Amino acid sequence: MIGEEKINEVRERADIVEVISSYVSLKRAGANYQGLCPFHAEKTPSFNVSPARQIFHCFGCGVGGNVFSFLMRLEGLSFGQAVKAVGARYGIEVEDKPFDSRAQERARRRELLLRVNELAAEFYQNILLQSPEGKRGLEYLQRRGYGMETARHFRLGFAPDRWDALAAYLQGKGYDPEIGRQLGLLRPGKNDGRDRDFFRNRLMFPVVDSSGAVVAFGGRALADETPKYLNSPESPVYHKGRTLYGLGQARSAMSRAGEVIIVEGYFDLLAVAGAGFENVVATCGTALTTEHAVLLQRHGKKVALLFDGDSAGWKATLRAMEILLGTDVATTVITLEDGADPDSFIQEHGAQAFAERFAQARPVLEVFMEKTLREAGLERESRARAAESVAAKISLLASPVKRELYLRELAERVGVSVQALATAGREMSLSPRMTVMTPRQTREDIPLKNQQWLLRLLVLDGNLRQRLEAEGAERYFADPDYLMTAEQILACGADDKALADLLEGAELSENQRRIVREALQGDVASLAEDRERIFQDCCQATETQRLKKRSRELTREIVEAEKNGDIAAVAALSQEKLKIDRQLKTRSAAIAEKKIM
Ligand code: GTP
Ligand code: MN
Repeated sequence: MIGEEKINEVRERADIVEVISSYVSLKRAGANYQGLCPFHAEKTPSFNVSPARQIFHCFGCGVGGNVFSFLMRLEGLSFGQAVKAVGARYGIEVEDKPFDSRAQERARRRELLLRVNELAAEFYQNILLQSPEGKRGLEYLQRRGYGMETARHFRLGFAPDRWDALAAYLQGKGYDPEIGRQLGLLRPGKNDGRDRDFFRNRLMFPVVDSSGAVVAFGGRALADETPKYLNSPESPVYHKGRTLYGLGQARSAMSRAGEVIIVEGYFDLLAVAGAGFENVVATCGTALTTEHAVLLQRHGKKVALLFDGDSAGWKATLRAMEILLGTDVATTVITLEDGADPDSFIQEHGAQAFAERFAQARPVLEVFMEKTLREAGLERESRARAAESVAAKISLLASPVKRELYLRELAERVGVSVQALATAGREMSLSPRMTVMTPRQTREDIPLKNQQWLLRLLVLDGNLRQRLEAEGAERYFADPDYLMTAEQILACGADDKALADLLEGAELSENQRRIVREALQGDVASLAEDRERIFQDCCQATETQRLKKRSRELTREIVEAEKNGDIAAVAALSQEKLKIDRQLKTRSAAIAEKKIM
């Protein structure tokens, strides 16, 4: 978090024309400045900067905002990073405002962990590039078609085939082995308890976050050992679901292209980048998550999925599609033939052939529709099932316009009315799902979904019940039926038996039963790992919703007071609205910030 006064100080000191001038050549045009838009390709300038209002706007692609949003978009920075970058330019030191000593302690700890990861990356890289021990790694890399340049660009390294190479190195530097253990770099031996290197005899891929810090490693075995890849475990600085491999290196290419290619493997990424598409990132051995989607959304409006040409690759494509359809990121698929992965395809057919494949990428929903209908054949039952499953995916689309376009196409293809398909789609996707929440999100269904998620969590988790009871349920449940239901559930405390009695007994009305049933619908198991995060997201979103509602009410009340000529009331209400709007602003910035930390 950055203090609000700091943000204002930086905003006031900064000159947007000056900042943008270092990226775009601007010419004076009346009261404004003009240049070629850095966010889309154009030959005549439609990119405008207003020094008076300190904003920019492109009439070509519609992008616009203030000095911070310019840097966020162009450099792929978070709001906090953008404030810092602008501050640095004007000699204003922007420091994260530590909430309390605990937060300060956490920040210090994080720094220490990152320093040790950085040292490890340097250690591995030196071995690969300079030591005889690393020769095998370099040879392996060369055999797969890459040289020193790739190794340097991606900071590749080699973990020597010794038990304690890194352990000894870190000890020599005076670092507490506990830090290495927390990062998963060291493991205490079973017999003697002495620290051993986790990565041995492997080609090392450091995972770098968008601010350039090494947060984790992936290690590739040189031969047929298992596992083929070994990845750092999660740690206080590494959350797989929020990390994209290659993001640091891909950032500027991503904002130039306005598009990002997503692959699954480390070598796939090297191959695609090597073929001239540097706007490529990889998921680190996990499926794409909603947090990835949030990250991607801030880097561009287009995503191309490039997964292996086999059934596992298709499954990964579907999963990514479900997550991305609800965002305003346009998603396409690049298809490869059976058995190929991006790396093998490029090695075999070359960069030119890949560029052609890339040019043929098609919208993911279109590909899904075709494949599903084709596989269903002509038989009525299977065709109906196929149509329903396509309709369900269509209903995930955030844009009502896109929804209708796809529904029409589907309707034509299967000979069913748009209306029937729309109903089927809604029914099939009724179970609550995680919605990607971004500061811009305005969909009306979020409040209810959040309440459903929260209720679901409360049923599942006694600890959360106790926590929420302490905070008061009325803050999180706007719907009166939900609130009453929640309160009854909270009254059970951590006692699961009492809760079971409540849910089975006659204390709940028919309506309340329906609410609980709906909240518990769908895939409950998937919740286990993400409970805390979903809880936090729901709380945040609900609170934001409450603030927004109050802000709208205040607008009406101000108009009313003005009509009545009640100047004191106007002043007081305006004051409150200003405060709430400010809170909303910092909240949306904080949410954006949190997502990438
Ligand atoms: P290469 O054989 O080196 O070309 O790897 P690949 O990228 O073709 O591997 P694959 O398609 O099998 O796997 C894709 C990604 O999944 C890898 O880049 C890893 O991130 C991850 N992965 C693959 N195998 C393993 C494994 O054995 N353990 C773990 N933890 N992750 C793996
Ligand atoms: Mn491969």
